Amino acid sequence: MDYLKYINPGIKSINTYEPGKSIEEVMEKYNLKNIVKLASNENSLGPSPKALEVINNFKDVHLYPDGDGLKLKSKISEIENINSDQIILGNGSNEILEIISQTFLSPVTESIFSKHAFIVYKLASKVRGSKFHEVDACKWGHDLNGFLKKINDKTRLIFIANPNNPTGTYLSHKDILEFLKKVPKKVLVVIDLAYFEYVTAEDYIETNEILDKFPNVIFTKSFSKIHGLSALRIGYGFGNKTLIEIMNRVRQPFNVNTVAQKAAIESLSDQRYLKNSINQNTKERLYLYKSLEIIGMDYIPSQGNFICIDTKTSAKNIFESLLQKGVIVRPIDLYGMPTHIRVTIGNRTENNIFLEKFKEVLS
Ligand SMILES: Cc1ncc(COP(=O)(O)O)c(C=O)c1O
Repeated sequence: MDYLKYINPGIKSINTYEPGKSIEEVMEKYNLKNIVKLASNENSLGPSPKALEVINNFKDVHLYPDGDGLKLKSKISEIENINSDQIILGNGSNEILEIISQTFLSPVTESIFSKHAFIVYKLASKVRGSKFHEVDACKWGHDLNGFLKKINDKTRLIFIANPNNPTGTYLSHKDILEFLKKVPKKVLVVIDLAYFEYVTAEDYIETNEILDKFPNVIFTKSFSKIHGLSALRIGYGFGNKTLIEIMNRVRQPFNVNTVAQKAAIESLSDQRYLKNSINQNTKERLYLYKSLEIIGMDYIPSQGNFICIDTKTSAKNIFESLLQKGVIVRPIDLYGMPTHIRVTIGNRTENNIFLEKFKEVLS
C-alpha cells in the first residue's frame, strides 16, 4: 500500500462527508415504525406531480442522456432571462461547486467563505490543496467586510450561500452589490442560491442586474430543495458565457441523467406546486418560531426551509435522544455550532411531532 503515501496532501485532513441519517437506518436501529425526517432540507410535499409522472413513465434507460441538456437549458434560460450558453448543468449543484473549484483552485491558490457555511466549500478547497479562509460570522451571517480583508493576490474564489446553510441568514441585494464593487475582478464570486425560492425578504438579490454588472459572478441553483428531486441529483450554474464554456471543458460528458432533465423541466413549469411549497414553508416557519418562543428556545431567524435552534447543551446528545424517538434532525457541530440543531421545516404534522418529542427530550 506504499502508493497511499502519495495521495494529494489536502485529502489527508478530510473526513468522509457524513450525510443525514436515512429513514431505513433509524427504523432498523431503534426498531421504530414511524420516522419523521427533518435532517436534509428536503421538500416535505415531495416532487411536483407533473415531475413524478415523467419519472414514472420513463423507459429509455438504455440511451445516453442529452449531454448538452438542451431542452432543460432552454427552459432555464426563459426563467432566468439569460442565454442558454450562460448555463451549465450539474449532477446536483454540488457538482457545479466542484467544477468551479477544479477550474480555479490548486495548492498555490486561496478561497474564502464564512465560518458557518455549507461544508462543500471547505471540502472542495481542501481536496485541491488550496488554502482557505473561514471568516468569522456576524450575527451568524456572512461578514462581507471580513471577506474583503482576506483577499490577496492568491485569492481565486469566494463562496457565498444566500440564504446560508446552516444558519438561514441572508444578504440583501444592496449588501451584495456593495461587496462586489470592492472585490477585484480577477476573483470569482460564487453565489449559491440553493434555497432562494423560500426567501420572503423584500430586499433579496436580483440576479440579472448582478450578472450584467459583474462578469466575475457565478450563481448556482439546486433541484434538490423546493423541487423535491434530491434523489435524481440535478442542479445548475449560470454566469458569464466564457466562464461557462471553460467549465464545460471540465464537466463529464453525460453528467446529468435523462430522468433528472425531464423531471426538472416539468417541475420548473409547475407554478402551482412551487407556490404551494413556498406557502407551506412560510406558514410553518412562523408556526415553528412561535412554538419555539413558547418553550423559550432561541433560534436563528431563517430565510430557508430550515431553522437552527440553540439547545444550549450538546446538540449531539439532543440529536441522539430525538433519533430514539423517531425524529431525525441535524446536529451541526461540523459547522462550528456544537449547541445548535438544524431542523428542516416540514408539514404541520411533522412539525408537531418534532415539537412534542423535542419538549420530551428537553424535560
Ligand atoms: C447551500 C447549499 N448549496 C448546495 C447544496 C447542494 O445541493 P445539491 O447538490 O443537492 O443540488 C446544498 C445541499 O444541502 C446546500 O445546502
